[in-house]
Amino acid sequence: MSKLWDRIHDELSTRHETKTYNNIKILGSPQGAYINVGGKTYLNMCSNNYLGFANDPDAVKGGQEYLAKYGVGSGAVRSIAGSQQCHIEFEKALARFKGVEDAILVQSGFQANTALIPTIMTADDAIISDELNHASIIDAVRLTKSKKYVYKHVDMDDLKAQIEKAKAEVPGIVLIITDGVFSMDGDIAPLDKIAELKNNYDDVYLAVDDAHGEGVFGDHGRGIVNHFGLEGDVEFEIGTLSKAFGICGGFIGGKKELIDYLKQKARPFLFSTGLDSAMCGAGLVIVDKMEKSDERVKKLWENAKYLQSELKARGLDTWKTVSPITPVIVGDEAKATDLTKALFDEGILVSPIMYPTVAKGLARIRLMPSAAHSKEDLDKAVDTIEKCAKKLGIL
Ligand SMILES: Cc1ncc(COP(=O)(O)O)c(C=O)c1O
Repeated sequence: MSKLWDRIHDELSTRHETKTYNNIKILGSPQGAYINVGGKTYLNMCSNNYLGFANDPDAVKGGQEYLAKYGVGSGAVRSIAGSQQCHIEFEKALARFKGVEDAILVQSGFQANTALIPTIMTADDAIISDELNHASIIDAVRLTKSKKYVYKHVDMDDLKAQIEKAKAEVPGIVLIITDGVFSMDGDIAPLDKIAELKNNYDDVYLAVDDAHGEGVFGDHGRGIVNHFGLEGDVEFEIGTLSKAFGICGGFIGGKKELIDYLKQKARPFLFSTGLDSAMCGAGLVIVDKMEKSDERVKKLWENAKYLQSELKARGLDTWKTVSPITPVIVGDEAKATDLTKALFDEGILVSPIMYPTVAKGLARIRLMPSAAHSKEDLDKAVDTIEKCAKKLGIL
């Protein structure tokens, strides 16, 4: 025996005992309103495929065409092997869609935070982060030598106090960073108030991670910055392609010179191979569809509002959400696991969210409605959740 293997074994045993072990499902089908798990069809209420693009036939065709044109691999990091034309085309399309001067693609939304934050921040600077920011922001902040400050969730008085403190304590710049839409609760950052506050100071800048805002908020799903009309006020936009865009990858949007700088210096860009051509080909089709029609965005909101009002009508607690992210609070961690399992047995897939992802006592299941769902699908989900919650003593 060794300390290492004991540690790993003990952690796994604890998870099994406390019903917090995550049994990751193996899917035999593409993402969609219904998916196949072990040969059986399940109603899928847990993917971030907001607009139903993950298996869009035109996007699949776009990916196939670019695979045929550019091959399956991009060869090496772009700074060595070169950018393929499809990378540049897709970056331009994303910049146009988001209303920024330029964009840089990286391998994921997680990597986008790592590509931006440690690259622009120095030991002379300060970073002020919302306490409920996503893990990828927290990890990216840890990679910097900047002084770190955390403000109470969406609390503008505390943010002001932290800005004053940081301005007094560091000689360099101050970066405020926040999720646009908070992924566990579904509430949003008061970006208008944050921008107003930071504009009172010199050298205070704002970065927004728009992972759950793109395709959801703003005109045609252009995102949370567009929703608040703050283009030009937010210096850095971090995006992911893995949610509403339905594919995989991440990007940063901003001024041309920022993107040029990141292509010279950002470590995930310099030391990790470029996105594959299929993502670029599919992504271009998806951005084009989003620009031409907002039907899917409207359907997503119609579904989200219907789902949330039906859950509330049955006495279920959807917490603070103002977005399609739909938590159903159950409180106890084991109950979240039990409810997830009961729903799975009834043919519905949801994700349990518990400590340490959310605070102890606020365990929940999280439902993700999509434009791909029908009203009947949502009725089925609500009826079954109500039935299982009653059986388990949650309702
Ligand atoms: C706010 C936020 N940022 C970044 C990410 C990571 O995105 P990706 O899956 O593209 O790495 C997520 C995904 O959960 C997220 O919610």
